Amino acid sequence: MAKNPAPSATLQPILAQVDADFDSSVSRLCDLLRIPSVSTDPAFNKQTRAAGQWCTDQLKSIGFDASLRDTTGHPMVVAHYRTNGSNGKTPHLLYYGHYDVQPPDPLDLWKSPPFEPAIVEGPRGKRIVARGAVDDKGQVMLFIEAFRAWMKARGSLPVNVTVFLEGEEESGSPSLDPFLKANKKELQADVCIVSDTSMWDINTPAVTYMLRGLVYIEATLHGPSADLHSGMFGGSLVNPATALCGVIAQLHDKNRKVQIPGFYSGIKELSAAEKKMWKSLKFNEKQFLGEAGMKTPYGERGRTTLERIWSRPTCEINGIFGGYTGKGAKTVIGSSASAKISCRLVHGQDPKKVMKNLIAFLKKRTPPDCRWEIHEHGCSPAIRVPTESPWLEAALEGLRSVFTKQPVLIGTGGSIPLVGSVQRILGFDSLLVGFGLDDDRVHSPNEKFELKCYEMGIKSHAAMLEAFSTVS
Ligand code: BES
Ligand code: MN
Ligand code: MN
Repeated sequence: MAKNPAPSATLQPILAQVDADFDSSVSRLCDLLRIPSVSTDPAFNKQTRAAGQWCTDQLKSIGFDASLRDTTGHPMVVAHYRTNGSNGKTPHLLYYGHYDVQPPDPLDLWKSPPFEPAIVEGPRGKRIVARGAVDDKGQVMLFIEAFRAWMKARGSLPVNVTVFLEGEEESGSPSLDPFLKANKKELQADVCIVSDTSMWDINTPAVTYMLRGLVYIEATLHGPSADLHSGMFGGSLVNPATALCGVIAQLHDKNRKVQIPGFYSGIKELSAAEKKMWKSLKFNEKQFLGEAGMKTPYGERGRTTLERIWSRPTCEINGIFGGYTGKGAKTVIGSSASAKISCRLVHGQDPKKVMKNLIAFLKKRTPPDCRWEIHEHGCSPAIRVPTESPWLEAALEGLRSVFTKQPVLIGTGGSIPLVGSVQRILGFDSLLVGFGLDDDRVHSPNEKFELKCYEMGIKSHAAMLEAFSTVS
């Protein structure tokens, strides 16, 4: 295999600057992690704003023209940098990340408080443990710290940059599309660099070229006008909790194929080239399941685990409740029961159609005397980004100059609504380069970011900046 090139003479002092400043880079990340910016919970509105303000101030301090912009939800950070003597040909990059985080619950499972970042020793060196460590505060800091190192070592960046950070990614991005529409001109760039995904493994950097989409609803089945005594009424009328379970049990057949009409229409099988590329990754299924405490692959029959998470759609129950959910026993027929249901979508599926067909699936099965109350929580398409683009080539070149192993192209099971919105509203593509690991416990207790990934992520962004500057 070809050996990777050494960093250029331009890049070397910048990488040295990253090393020299690394402890301060870690402590700056800790400062951001201490701000509990839980976007979904209005009790944290002030803190969420404070995290956006903190990012704005950091960008100002390294020479960006940065501001915090109000929306009807959480504010957006927009910051611009224009390189000296830039002309029409100088590349212009839009960097994206999110400063909000998921709620830390369940709190009692954290080994240290979620908003008091702890540096702890792990099997792969030191790691930083806190909510948002990798999703996405740590990954926002990767490019901010790379810009800082360029500024310190060279006095300027080699390209024009706009930074765009949102504070609602973890709560459905309600203000995103309106903001992009209203600020279309200001956010124009050649490509969007998304810093919110994973590596293949700790030594192998990756560019993510496919993301799944998401359709999410909360469905409540209403029955009796009040909770009832289950001895007096049970067995004589519809119990919404039992009926809800019966309906959602029909979402899959015995081969775990989704039964929503038209669900699989429009989906293409993998190309032979893709199959070959995925095979060459040598996915370790046992380790993947083991990290979740499981050992049995389970999903749509006839598919590999990598297909099941990257290129096949799913329908999952994310929450289910109704009747009595407190301690001890209560003999009751609850008047209603609810389920949070989401579908991960792949390329070819139309999210609006899936949403419509999912709701129709439930309505068709409405038990007597009952009615559904349905709330929609998001509807975004799956995304594929071009694998033949000069930006992707430049990113790979940058990654090669700091890693020993060859970068790989991967898919992901997760979703990032921004990518579709940028394509649709701003009219350009994204490039997803991230530095998380599968075992980072994203959205779970004890979320962490390996310091090795933090260091290599900053260096990679520094190297990619140089490579992007040569794209014409
Ligand atoms: N960063 C994640 C998406 C992700 C996870 C990408 C793992 C690659 C690997 C993002 O913050 C996220 O959690 N997205 C949500 C989107 C939803 C709230 C619309 C998701 O995927 O559930
Ligand atoms: Mn994220
Ligand atoms: Mn997330």
